[in-house]
Amino acid sequence: MSEKLVKLEKIAAPKGVREYLPPESRSFEWVREQLISPAKSAGYQLMELPVFEDTTLFNRGVGETTDVVSKEMYTFEDRGGRSITLRPEGTAGVMRAVIEGNLDRGQLPVKVWYAGQFFRAERPQAGRYRQFYQVGIEAIGVDDPALDAEVIAIANQGFKNLGLKRYRLEITSLGDAASRAAHRVDLMKFIGGLNLDDATKARSEINPLRLFDDKRPEIIDAMQGAPLLMDYLSDYSLDHFSKVTGYLDDLNISYVVNKRMVRGLDYYTGTTFEFVHSDLGAQSGIGGGGRYDGLMEVLGGQPLSGIGFGLGIDRALLAAIAENTLPIQEFSSDLFIIPLGDEMKSFALTFAASARKQGFSAEVAFGERSLKGAMKGADKSGARFVAVIGETERESGSVELKRMSDGTSISVKMSELNKVLEL
Ligand code: HAM
Repeated sequence: MSEKLVKLEKIAAPKGVREYLPPESRSFEWVREQLISPAKSAGYQLMELPVFEDTTLFNRGVGETTDVVSKEMYTFEDRGGRSITLRPEGTAGVMRAVIEGNLDRGQLPVKVWYAGQFFRAERPQAGRYRQFYQVGIEAIGVDDPALDAEVIAIANQGFKNLGLKRYRLEITSLGDAASRAAHRVDLMKFIGGLNLDDATKARSEINPLRLFDDKRPEIIDAMQGAPLLMDYLSDYSLDHFSKVTGYLDDLNISYVVNKRMVRGLDYYTGTTFEFVHSDLGAQSGIGGGGRYDGLMEVLGGQPLSGIGFGLGIDRALLAAIAENTLPIQEFSSDLFIIPLGDEMKSFALTFAASARKQGFSAEVAFGERSLKGAMKGADKSGARFVAVIGETERESGSVELKRMSDGTSISVKMSELNKVLEL
């Protein structure tokens, strides 16, 4: 290395990634906790999964005709020549792990939650990122309309916890295999009468429902008269769906049936839903989910059903900002400890550790600052109390705690901080 000092260029974050720094990260953390706490109280357990998986998992699980798989995956070859993909969504990975860990051989439904970052190479804009964050749940192995309703209710409670009001729940049924087969015949006939380019035709042959999701105005126009899957539901699917909506009515959860809803992932069957916020413009989907009754089998497992959701933390945060529901959260410690000189530092660290053990948050003033400078730091930190410690305090085991809000001081034994800090 050359000895010459060269000013190096700064390095920027990759395009389109969303990251959260203090103080904004406090709001992010709060939103994430509000969104997931209803699942925790409903018996869902944490699953921590890798952010990269074998590419085949998503090709097979999410579907090759989807934009997510065909256009938006971050796929690369690892050093061992394997094709790896950064997870674009969570369900396929959960299913892979459930099969691999034999969780489906135990108590059903398997009920898990997860939170983390996901990756889609989309065109970045407000509310749409290349790295974004979701919390999600999956309930695997029981096909009961009451479970569908509970899953939806859990998502809804998450948004309610955030104080959101200006959103709606859209719901539909993509039916069972028999419903989809009956619909497919008529839909293919309809699509056959359209003047489509070869790529679109090829895509529609694999999954004709994808055309309902096409954003090109001419396709949206052409699909106006297309037969809708909800009009082809089998008796079983119709009964299942009406039970789900019945339970939602009983739970006082309002919804709109959207017969034209298509989700961006191919594994959905039966009950499918989306939460849409009115203040977020084009990126209005704050969460979505549904049943995926064939997925486990497609991934090499047994033919078990499943249902779940993914909620977008980034968009939920934007919605909370738009509705002005974020609480003001001061980040401040109970105690700010200022050691008088270097020789008191070890004692300051011990005192801070003891305060934390007693259940209080404590910070120490570091560096070679003057007492005045350290007091300024204490002020900026917003700590409730400040303790300046020197030889006297160390000897006596008592400290003067200065209450920052009014400048008054109270003397207390270090082992009995609760006598003052809990006031
Ligand atoms: P999804 O609808 O693709 O579903 O994503 C769920 C939520 O993630 C969306 O409603 C949105 O809030 C957020 N989201 C998606 N893409 C982006 C992006 N590029 N930037 C910011 N936020 C985004 C799934 O991922 C399914 N795995 C959900 C599920 C679980 N279905 C059954 N179980």
